[in-house]
Amino acid sequence: QFVNLCTIHEDTAILLWIVGVAGAWDSPWPCPQRCECLHELLIVNCSSVHMTSVPEGIYAKSLHLNLSNNHLKILERRQFSNLAELQELDLSENMLSIIKFEAFLGLRRLLTLRLSQNRLKIIPLGVFSGLLSLRLLDISKNEILIFLDHTFRDMASLQKLDASRNDIVFISKLAFSGLLNLQELNLDRCNITSAPALALSQLTGLTRLQFCWVGYTVLPNNSFRWLGWVRELTISNCPWLGSLATKSLIGLNLTSLTLSYCNLSSVPYVPLQHLVYLRYLDLSYNPITSIQPNLLGDLLQLQEFHLVGGSLQKVEPRAFQGLVHFRLLNVSSNQLSTLEEMAFHSMKTLQVLRLDGNPLTCDCRLLWVLHNRLDLDFDGVPPVCALPVYMQGRTFLDFSAAEVPRLFTCRQARILNRKPQEVRTDEGHTVQFFCQVDGDPTPSIIWVSPHRTLLTTTGRIRVLSNGTLEVRYAQVQDSGYYYCFASNTAGNDSISISLRVCGSPESSYQNHSPQFFLEGWNLAAIIPSDNPTVSTSQGIPFDMKTLVIVMTMGSVSFLSSVAVCFVFIFFWSQSKGKIKHTAKVSFVPRSAAIATEKAERAEANMETAKLTMRL
Ligand SMILES: *[C@@H]1O[C@H](CO)[C@@H](O)[C@H](O)[C@H]1NC(C)=O
Ligand SMILES: *[C@@H]1O[C@H](CO)[C@@H](O)[C@H](O)[C@H]1NC(C)=O
Ligand SMILES: *[C@@H]1O[C@H](CO)[C@@H](O)[C@H](O)[C@H]1NC(C)=O
Ligand SMILES: *[C@@H]1O[C@H](CO)[C@@H](O)[C@H](O)[C@H]1NC(C)=O
Ligand SMILES: *[C@@H]1O[C@H](CO)[C@@H](O)[C@H](O)[C@H]1NC(C)=O
Ligand SMILES: *[C@@H]1O[C@H](CO)[C@@H](O)[C@H](O)[C@H]1NC(C)=O
Ligand SMILES: *[C@@H]1O[C@H](CO)[C@@H](O)[C@H](O)[C@H]1NC(C)=O
Ligand SMILES: *[C@@H]1O[C@H](CO)[C@@H](O)[C@H](O)[C@H]1NC(C)=O
Ligand SMILES: *[C@@H]1O[C@H](CO)[C@@H](O)[C@H](O)[C@H]1NC(C)=O
Repeated sequence: QFVNLCTIHEDTAILLWIVGVAGAWDSPWPCPQRCECLHELLIVNCSSVHMTSVPEGIYAKSLHLNLSNNHLKILERRQFSNLAELQELDLSENMLSIIKFEAFLGLRRLLTLRLSQNRLKIIPLGVFSGLLSLRLLDISKNEILIFLDHTFRDMASLQKLDASRNDIVFISKLAFSGLLNLQELNLDRCNITSAPALALSQLTGLTRLQFCWVGYTVLPNNSFRWLGWVRELTISNCPWLGSLATKSLIGLNLTSLTLSYCNLSSVPYVPLQHLVYLRYLDLSYNPITSIQPNLLGDLLQLQEFHLVGGSLQKVEPRAFQGLVHFRLLNVSSNQLSTLEEMAFHSMKTLQVLRLDGNPLTCDCRLLWVLHNRLDLDFDGVPPVCALPVYMQGRTFLDFSAAEVPRLFTCRQARILNRKPQEVRTDEGHTVQFFCQVDGDPTPSIIWVSPHRTLLTTTGRIRVLSNGTLEVRYAQVQDSGYYYCFASNTAGNDSISISLRVCGSPESSYQNHSPQFFLEGWNLAAIIPSDNPTVSTSQGIPFDMKTLVIVMTMGSVSFLSSVAVCFVFIFFWSQSKGKIKHTAKVSFVPRSAAIATEKAERAEANMETAKLTMRL
């Protein structure tokens, strides 16, 4: 049976070939001058032959007519009325500026009409009448300014309309009426300044929309309120669009969202939150610098995340937390120095990883990629090391299994000046505490105050960029233990430093406080993220016993220092014995300072310008 079928198939092929060859020789139907005709396929190819008008004598049964790349300027009424069988008509790359009323009337079977790259400014009513079967209309790259009511009236079969790269500034309310089956609409790179919500609401079958507005820096609330059936939305090439209002995507139920070539500086977490069916998210070519932890978890179905050509410097741990179907991450051409396994909900689902084009530091943080390199699909472009220098330029597929554990290493964070520091100072002075660290990758440093708050880079007590803590205009209440924590992927380290600030006059100070180290601290909870309010509001979990001891000892030491100061002041005042109760103050009279001509006279009066004060 199988062999038979094959033979029959072969026979038919040979037969067709013979018919084809015979057709070519005999010209069963005439071909217009300068055109090429493929008789057996019923194709008339008049592309690129410098025609200035539609040729005469096109075979009435032609299926495809290509008139692209010519010099056509005008289409007359019923220009193609004798081509009732035509399925495809290509008029792109001409100079068409006028298409007359009913120009395409009679093309009842036409499926595809291409008019891109012409000079159309307006589409008069009735131009597209009679195109009952048309599925695809391409009017991109013209100069169309406006869509009037009922422009596409009779095109009930139209599925795809490409109107991108026009100068469209206005879409009238009923412009799209009658497009009952339109599935895909491309309005990319147009000049529309307000959302044509009413016009779009006519398109009840629309599933893919490509769009861009000019003039908005913030995508307004309710921009797509009436487009609940759209599944794929693309907003691209909006270089001014910097953010999305929190309710801008409300009303949509998308499976795919692309927001590319815009000016977004962060992932629009909140506007995305309700898109629980989203599977594909593309934020490529936006100046986004980081992906924050735990903020994409609502997108339960998300499978693909693309952020190509951005400014990504960090993908935080737990960035893709909760995404159990996550299978593709495309972050090529960014500024990432690493990507930690902790970013993902689970490594098991990840299949495709594009990490190329990033200045990667090859150390223990990327070990997971190395270990999975045979299972992961790098899409043909494996990651490349940029640092350390001796590994520069090596791709991840180069390393032998033996090399990996030796080369992809980290050095635990370590504080160098380990000696316990004790600093005493007078009120009003400025002191600095050093916390020099070593480690690979460079450890992050945090300082915790005696009141157990994270110290920031601003304020009177602040952390300098080199990790040094600076206490300016020290006050008595600044006294206590300060802690420096250093940590990196490989480990952590901490030291404590005690500060004693005494109110002047200086008092001797007796140190009663034993040293404390924060053994019960959960460092992970206070490691600074880009959002310090999040980490501080989480609180610092440590056990009650430590808290009680610290509080008690802290107040004991404080009270004792105050007491010692008072005692000192008392003895000092007693020992001074006789105390003067008056003071003489001499002063220059105000008039003397201003009136220079009277300077001499004022000088003479100096002796008398004295004041006696009672203390
Ligand atoms: C149509 O003609 C042009 C110019 O002669 C040629 O480049 C092109 O390949 C032809 N197209 C087809 C489909 O034959
Ligand atoms: C018409 O011809 C041009 C140039 O030869 C070609 O690029 C285009 O694809 C053709 N159009 C169709 C519909 O085949
Ligand atoms: C449309 O926008 C482009 C780019 O912003 C601009 O160059 C062009 O002049 C605009 N056209 C109209 C008609 O406003
Ligand atoms: C969008 O709506 C939210 C909540 O209703 C509101 O807080 C916000 O100001 C609105 N934004 C704009 C740009 O209108
Ligand atoms: C993009 O946003 C930045 C600030 O976030 C702004 O300085 C810049 O002008 C914006 N670019 C455009 C084209 O609007
Ligand atoms: C949203 O889209 C999903 C997937 O296309 C579909 O299963 C779901 O029913 C839709 N929900 C609503 C409210 O339209
Ligand atoms: C990643 O993005 C680049 C640039 O957009 C694209 O060329 C490539 O196909 C994408 N890779 C995958 C696996 O999607
Ligand atoms: C850190 O910077 C401050 C101010 O720039 C400087 O005074 C201090 O000496 C530096 N500390 C270290 C350890 O280099
Ligand atoms: C800090 O180091 C200690 C001991 O090396 C370890 O038990 C602890 O888990 C580390 N904490 C963090 C947050 O890495």
